[in-house]
Amino acid sequence: MKKKALYIIGLFLIGFIGIKLFQYTTGPTEEYSDLKVIAYHYNGQGYIGSATCMECHKDIYETHIKTAHYNTSVFTNIDNIKGSLKTGENVVSLQDADITITERDGKPFQHAQIKYGDKSTFDWGMDITIGSGLKGQSYLTDQSDGLFQLQASYFVPTDEWINSPNYTNRLNPLRPVNDMCLKCHVTFARSKDNASNKNQYDITKMVLGVDCEKCHGPAEKHVAFQRNSTGANGIDSSLVNLTSLSRQQSLDLCASCHSGLRNNQIRNPFTFLPGDTLSNFSKNYQSLRPSKTLDVHGNQYGLLISSKCFTASDQMDCITCHDPHKNQRNEQEYFNSKCLSCHKQGDMHCTLPSTKMGKNGSNCIQCHMPVIPSKNMQVQLKTLENATPIGIRTHLIAVYPDRSVDEIQVE
Ligand code: HEC
Ligand code: HEC
Ligand code: HEC
Ligand code: HEC
Ligand code: HEC
Ligand code: HEC
Ligand code: HEC
Repeated sequence: MKKKALYIIGLFLIGFIGIKLFQYTTGPTEEYSDLKVIAYHYNGQGYIGSATCMECHKDIYETHIKTAHYNTSVFTNIDNIKGSLKTGENVVSLQDADITITERDGKPFQHAQIKYGDKSTFDWGMDITIGSGLKGQSYLTDQSDGLFQLQASYFVPTDEWINSPNYTNRLNPLRPVNDMCLKCHVTFARSKDNASNKNQYDITKMVLGVDCEKCHGPAEKHVAFQRNSTGANGIDSSLVNLTSLSRQQSLDLCASCHSGLRNNQIRNPFTFLPGDTLSNFSKNYQSLRPSKTLDVHGNQYGLLISSKCFTASDQMDCITCHDPHKNQRNEQEYFNSKCLSCHKQGDMHCTLPSTKMGKNGSNCIQCHMPVIPSKNMQVQLKTLENATPIGIRTHLIAVYPDRSVDEIQVE
């Protein structure tokens, strides 16, 4: 009898320790840790990062971390560099120098060796990776005198290290990043010199990726409110409600990064918040250029608003076809169903005779939003003499007559 009691107590103990261990490894489930602010916006609001959103918006969080947006910038480490560091595969050979991409004690860096004269060498650490790695990755180095883009980039389609786009075939001086690159590839960065853009950043205070708070604004207050909220104590108005934006405000949020270079910068790009009017912050020098000459790279906004679908309907914006929380690359059926939501049978239907339609009749985007080689985004491959353009799907929705044939390849 005594033995049995001891046995039961033992079982209880084991169970109890097991539960404690389980709680220890999975983390606390009931009480939340204090909010850790990564950076403060100029308006005083804190950015806390998407890991915190997981508590209450688990579904959105889990699809969001698979998007190109979320992955478009990360702190570089040898595991997230897509290119090979193996000897023989890790060199970009220029006219006057070789750049080797290598690592020491687990820290990746680019090593340049001049081929002639004193054969001097330079080492630059790789600190921030720009690009989700769908097409490529470029790397930034954080030096005492500023943040710079490195000359060796990685190109995914051909799996090779390349000379970064727009660099000459010689060892170039390090290129200051300033807000360029950052304004479209990170959520928030603040120059150490508050007043202007001095190319000096504390990279530990950067909110990397195009994260939740890029589109929703800094969310410290929202989370503090929701965690303390036990029901009927007021309404949470700390975030801009994106569903209530006007069409232009909604477009402007996406256009802040998808309407070309906008190199006519009027105000600090990192002061822009959802709901703001973009033309008060920046303009394109070529904003009066006719639409057909706009480049497909990074200007989905300019192309879309030149399309008849856009001008002849009053509600179309980017969200009409894109779910901002999901990776929808190659979901052809989903996109085509969006076309058909307006182009049902009848006078809105495709006028191409079915005899000419070929086997891809239901794939509207293949013929009306074809993939077109970019004039601006070109890379110099080791194996090819000439610059090779990158193909990007145009957002000028139109009739492309040469697309009415059968042999169009399925991308
Ligand atoms: C403690 C729970 C909690 C956390 C953490 C949290 N939220 Fe929320 N959030 C809510 C609740 C509850 C609502 C619904 C509020 C309502 O509409 O009444 C909400 C609503 C929202 C909305 C819709 C607001 C609107 O008016 O349309 C957005 C956007 C949002 N949250 C973004 C975020 C982001 C981004 C994070 C992470 C930085 C986050 N939330 C973290 C609880 C939370
Ligand atoms: C005006 C916004 C903007 C600026 C500025 C910008 N980019 Fe981009 N970048 C984009 C967009 C948008 C894409 C997605 C492809 C497209 O639409 O053309 C992209 C794509 C990329 C990619 C390919 C990512 C992939 O794997 O698909 C890399 C690498 C990249 N950019 C690096 C840079 C670097 C380095 C700089 C600074 C010299 C820079 N970008 C400046 C908006 C920008
Ligand atoms: C690229 C911009 C973008 C990013 C990044 C983004 N959102 Fe949103 N979010 C939107 C837009 C736009 C809407 C409004 C959608 C609509 O009009 O249907 C929205 C709506 C919401 C809503 C309210 C409606 C709903 O679907 O429940 C919540 C909550 C939300 N987002 C949370 C988040 C969280 C959490 C993250 C990060 C894990 C995030 N969002 C990342 C653009 C974004
Ligand atoms: C802070 C700048 C920024 C904002 C704001 C932004 N994007 Fe992007 N977006 C990018 C960059 C950069 C890329 C390229 C990411 C990569 O591949 O590295 C991208 C990629 C995309 C892609 C391609 C995804 C894929 O799978 O390759 C889509 C679609 C897209 N954005 C739609 C939107 C929409 C819709 C909005 C507005 C709700 C928006 N973006 C707002 C910067 C931005
Ligand atoms: C919000 C509704 C809407 C959506 C979504 C939409 N369209 Fe349209 N589209 C229109 C309207 C309205 C017109 C103008 C019709 C007219 O002038 O008779 C149009 C015109 C067109 C034209 C003729 C263009 C020209 O220059 O003559 C084509 C082709 C077209 N759409 C294809 C598409 C495809 C492909 C998709 C999906 C990627 C799509 N549309 C999505 C509303 C829409
Ligand atoms: C009528 C539907 C439609 C609308 C509206 C629309 N898109 Fe797209 N978008 C698409 C389709 C279809 C693709 C191709 C998806 C794929 O290849 O998987 C795409 C692809 C993209 C890409 C990736 C391009 C590439 O080749 O790398 C970006 C970036 C993008 N859209 C941004 C935007 C932005 C920003 C807006 C608003 C200005 C917008 N889109 C409005 C249908 C649309
Ligand atoms: C194989 C290529 C191809 C496919 C697939 C295709 N179209 Fe077309 N579409 C064309 C061509 C070419 C024309 C011009 C035909 C003509 O001369 O009238 C056209 C015409 C149109 C028009 C009328 C344009 C005008 O001048 O008013 C619309 C709208 C349209 N297509 C929508 C769609 C939609 C929606 C889908 C998907 C269900 C689709 N198309 C699929 C090639 C295609």
